[in-house]
Amino acid sequence: MSGRLEGRVAIVTGGSRQIGFAIARRFAVEGASVVLAARGRDDGLEAEQTIRAAGGEATALVCDVADEASVAATVDRTLELYGRLDVMVNNAGTGTAEDITDLSWDEYRRVIDINVGGVLLGTKYAARAMQLGGRGGSIINISSIQGVLPLKQSAVYAGSKGAVNLITQQTATDLGPFGIRVNAIAPGYIDSPMMHGYHDLVSSSPGEAIGAAKRSIVLGRLATTDDVAGPALFFASDDSVYVTGTLMLVDGGSQCHGAIA
Ligand SMILES: NC(=O)c1ccc[n+]([C@@H]2O[C@H](COP(=O)([O-])OP(=O)(O)OC[C@H]3O[C@@H](n4cnc5c(N)ncnc54)[C@H](O)[C@@H]3O)[C@@H](O)[C@H]2O)c1
Repeated sequence: MSGRLEGRVAIVTGGSRQIGFAIARRFAVEGASVVLAARGRDDGLEAEQTIRAAGGEATALVCDVADEASVAATVDRTLELYGRLDVMVNNAGTGTAEDITDLSWDEYRRVIDINVGGVLLGTKYAARAMQLGGRGGSIINISSIQGVLPLKQSAVYAGSKGAVNLITQQTATDLGPFGIRVNAIAPGYIDSPMMHGYHDLVSSSPGEAIGAAKRSIVLGRLATTDDVAGPALFFASDDSVYVTGTLMLVDGGSQCHGAIA
């Protein structure tokens, strides 16, 4: 442990697996007490055990980020358990892919409620707790490269992440006077079920689609979930104490080509 987050308390939504878990584990290694706010109780407990077994401090709480009472209760319980909140990672998200002419309104509402509503609610209750604490704080929104660059059949998902990017700047403006910084990370292609699921949906030959995706990445490989944890640590720690309202692309350089495959 190098202790860059020693004494700090963080909530990571969707913290039981993939990107969220990688961030939570890294924060714990750096000395933070981490709340894994996850929909599934079993997944959350397993993640909690993994972090504790490695010597970190973590607690899993069941939380639905699209449900206001659930988000409020998660922040309240975090304050009861650990007495403060320093970092909120609004990571929970969901994907979808559709041709615009087949848009399902129910699916639209599901994705927007989680990807946009979840960020707004997480920010609302974290910011309240941070304001009461009087020590400032850091809010980190997990966006996507698709909030910046177009990809096939992604109007709803891309729109939701574009909204996250603007909400990040907007809330950074509102919360700056309280010493609360708000930044976003836009991962590119993560080697994950979400990314493979997307390619299965939009391509008749997923293997080919993944190959094209890799060719669009300057660094020549898909990202691991740990590739996102380092930038999240930067935003959580005092290393970024004068950084707010930014969007950091963590995409291996996909944006250099101007469009992704
Ligand atoms: N996988 C990728 O290639 C990729 C790329 C760019 C951005 N992202 C974004 O990164 C974030 C994490 O994605 P991931 O790849 O780890 O996906 P994932 O599906 O493995 O993880 C998403 C997490 O969010 C949780 N979640 C979903 N709905 C929830 C809800 N209503 N309440 C609480 N938790 C909920 C899930 O249970 C899961 O733990 C998402 O915001 C996603 O949009 C992913």
